[in-house]
Amino acid sequence: MPDNKDNILIIGSNGQIGVELTLALRKKYGNEFVIASDLRDENPLLKGTGKFFKIDVLNKEDLKNIIQKENIQQIYLLAAVLSAVGEQNPLMAWNINMNALLNVLELSKELNIKKIFWPSSIAVFGPSSPKKNCPQQTIIEPVTVYGISKYAGESWCEYYFEKYGIDIRSIRYPGIISYKSAPGGGTTDYAIEIFHTAVKDKTYNCFLSKGTYLPMMYMDDAIRATIQLMDAPKEKIKTHRSYNLAGISFSPEEIAAEIQKHIPEFQINYKPDFRQSIADSWPQSIDDTEARTHWDWKHQYDLSAIVKDMLEHI
Ligand code: SER
Repeated sequence: MPDNKDNILIIGSNGQIGVELTLALRKKYGNEFVIASDLRDENPLLKGTGKFFKIDVLNKEDLKNIIQKENIQQIYLLAAVLSAVGEQNPLMAWNINMNALLNVLELSKELNIKKIFWPSSIAVFGPSSPKKNCPQQTIIEPVTVYGISKYAGESWCEYYFEKYGIDIRSIRYPGIISYKSAPGGGTTDYAIEIFHTAVKDKTYNCFLSKGTYLPMMYMDDAIRATIQLMDAPKEKIKTHRSYNLAGISFSPEEIAAEIQKHIPEFQINYKPDFRQSIADSWPQSIDDTEARTHWDWKHQYDLSAIVKDMLEHI
């Protein structure tokens, strides 16, 4: 086990990424060093693996108490409202996404937190960004409240790094595909739902239309990237805004065809809803040259490996 003496706090440990990241960090550093927290009751997958606190990240006093009581040195802030739910309630999404981050940044300054991880998203990009191989630095004009809050958050991260020297690291996650804990309210979630209904009903009504390409990644790759970024020596981190991260890119008909190789009778139908315009505003694929060059990132799972592994576990 690596020689980690830092206590780590995960905020939003019950979510799609939170559960798997908590388990991965506990495996890497030891259960006692990784403290989980969420607004909701403890996720059953985390039960018995380490400490858990039920806290609201918007309650700065409660957050401060936990950080002090547990002698926290690193924070992973995963609590957020994603794109589809955000569009249903924009001010709620803005309030949670921004104030969670600002509370963590302020407390990190006050309590000398050593390192923070905060995820951004491909949602920072908007219709004026390049559709294909969207680079790290380009026109960034998000049109969803989720994207607006992530882009503003990136600027805050850089501000706290430049002004107060806080070591904040971030990734612009693409859509993440996983089977352990359910996703919550994203536009890329169709690529998870499709597996569950394929297995159960042999049919899927897709809320995005044919030909909608989006950047995606398997959870194993996302967790590996996150830990790799946090482990990288400080001098290798050349942006404290957020790193583009690419895995693969596919459309609903392409993932359906891959599923049909395993479940030949599976059928997909298209019933696009309000999430179509969110998807249309995002790039179809991402250029992550900087992550690959600066801290040696490389994805492992392609579409056929993802589909095979998902179907084995669902
Ligand atoms: N998966 C997110 C969403 O769809 C994008 O980062 O909202």
